[in-house]
Amino acid sequence: MEFTGKVAIVTGGGMGIGETIAQVFAREGADIVVGDVNPASAEKVIEEIARTGKKGMAVKMDVSLKVDVDRLADETLRAFGKIDILINNAGITQLPLSILDLDLETWQRVTDIDYKGTYLCSRRIGREMVRQKSGSIINISSIVGLASAPLVAYSPAKSAVIMLTKILATEWGRFNVRVNAIAPGYTLTPLLKGMIERGERNPEMILKRTPMGRMVEPEDIANAALFLASDKARCITGVTLPVDAGFLADGAWTAYGGYER
Ligand SMILES: NC(=O)c1ccc[n+]([C@@H]2O[C@H](COP(=O)([O-])OP(=O)(O)OC[C@H]3O[C@@H](n4cnc5c(N)ncnc54)[C@H](O)[C@@H]3O)[C@@H](O)[C@H]2O)c1
Repeated sequence: MEFTGKVAIVTGGGMGIGETIAQVFAREGADIVVGDVNPASAEKVIEEIARTGKKGMAVKMDVSLKVDVDRLADETLRAFGKIDILINNAGITQLPLSILDLDLETWQRVTDIDYKGTYLCSRRIGREMVRQKSGSIINISSIVGLASAPLVAYSPAKSAVIMLTKILATEWGRFNVRVNAIAPGYTLTPLLKGMIERGERNPEMILKRTPMGRMVEPEDIANAALFLASDKARCITGVTLPVDAGFLADGAWTAYGGYER
């Protein structure tokens, strides 16, 4: 129960990776605030957390809107008095498309949620952490923030999150506010399962290209977040931790015929 007495905000905590992160931090003792555009799923997660005897609150909000981000911070401070941990998890993806075919509205929406949302939440909640002189921010980026993919809105937005992580870690280090990122590989959430069902992602190709030959589970991301938010990581800031079953390690192997498993 390393996080007893800590207050954690998880954006996009209503389902998928964020839902698991919210549950795992609650299990470790934290009070949880789930901010999500989908209030029904956020409330369901908080009800499940409440059944285990822990405190929590659901806030309907869109991370791309400053007014909503301010309200998320204000309501959390009113209810719990402080914010120790922020997990910037809310995100949307896109179809794999050429820059010549992707419409500008989709590019804007993906950039607004995946990058601007992380920027706004870090700015508002980071301000409280700097004032408190303590805090931990964990940004959920992606392997495609580090390796290129035909995702011309999503991939650069996730790269921007990695650079923002380094900038904020450097700026806020002296205030004891740590900022790190996680780059998940292909993680079996409802989002990815849906994309596989619709033929938008090919699980055989993913597994063939993954050294450990396995998909990542939401628990793997949540456990990495637990470590990064804990005192065990007290000297770790500004890093991006891939949790990808080795995907990013396989740089040029394809040119040598790949590898046997
Ligand atoms: N699943 C993967 O394979 C994978 C891989 C790499 C990175 N990621 C990243 O992990 C994060 C979570 O992904 P997931 O697979 O769990 O997604 P998901 O679609 O399963 O869940 C996303 C959650 O975010 C919420 N959300 C969406 N837009 C929002 C907004 N504007 N404001 C507030 N909440 C919003 C949704 O309502 C939902 O509850 C995302 O940032 C995603 O880019 C996922």
